Amino acid sequence: MPNPKNIVILISGSGSNMASIVQAAQLQDWHQQFGASVVAVISNRPGAAGLQRATSLGVTTQLLDHRAFNSREAFDAALMQQVDSYQPALVVLAGFMRILTPGFVDHYTGRLINIHPSLLPAFTGINTHQRAINAGCLEAGCTVHQVTAELDHGPILAQAAVPVLPGDTADTLAARVLVQEHMLYPQAVRAWLQSQP
Ligand code: GAR
Repeated sequence: MPNPKNIVILISGSGSNMASIVQAAQLQDWHQQFGASVVAVISNRPGAAGLQRATSLGVTTQLLDHRAFNSREAFDAALMQQVDSYQPALVVLAGFMRILTPGFVDHYTGRLINIHPSLLPAFTGINTHQRAINAGCLEAGCTVHQVTAELDHGPILAQAAVPVLPGDTADTLAARVLVQEHMLYPQAVRAWLQSQP
């Protein structure tokens, strides 16, 4: 393939969004269609269940424990080096629970995307589902966006909404949103690949 579109996915936890992307890439044969493959999954947490999940899906995994670094800059520099060793066309944050330094974000401008469990620009940051319930929102959802230096900002690529139902807890709402995330994120990555020359 003359211009391989390598995808690197960064995770911190269960990796269900990562798995939805890897499975879509395999089932829809993104390699044949776009020259694209998920070449590595990198976690900043040793216990992340997503590492095992990625291995079962046949994807190379790497661990870079942020606790081994004494500054955010030092961790991000090491992460950048590890990510760049895979020559990625696209870097996908999938439940990667780290604030990235501007240097890292700048380095991947236009090829760094994230999924956030709210209808941005509402509810940036954490505890999005409880905050949506507390605010009396009738709808919640998730957003795929390009990553910029400002946390949970950046151009929106795709969104999906779900109803907030009477009696919802943060957990029941999160589960309803997560079902949408698993459809939305692979679609958004696919659309990004389609948009590339
Ligand atoms: C997902 O709900 C994702 O939207 C959220 O973490 C969860 C990760 O689940 N991301 C953020 O909150 C980022 N600010 P997963 O590890 O099973 O994909």
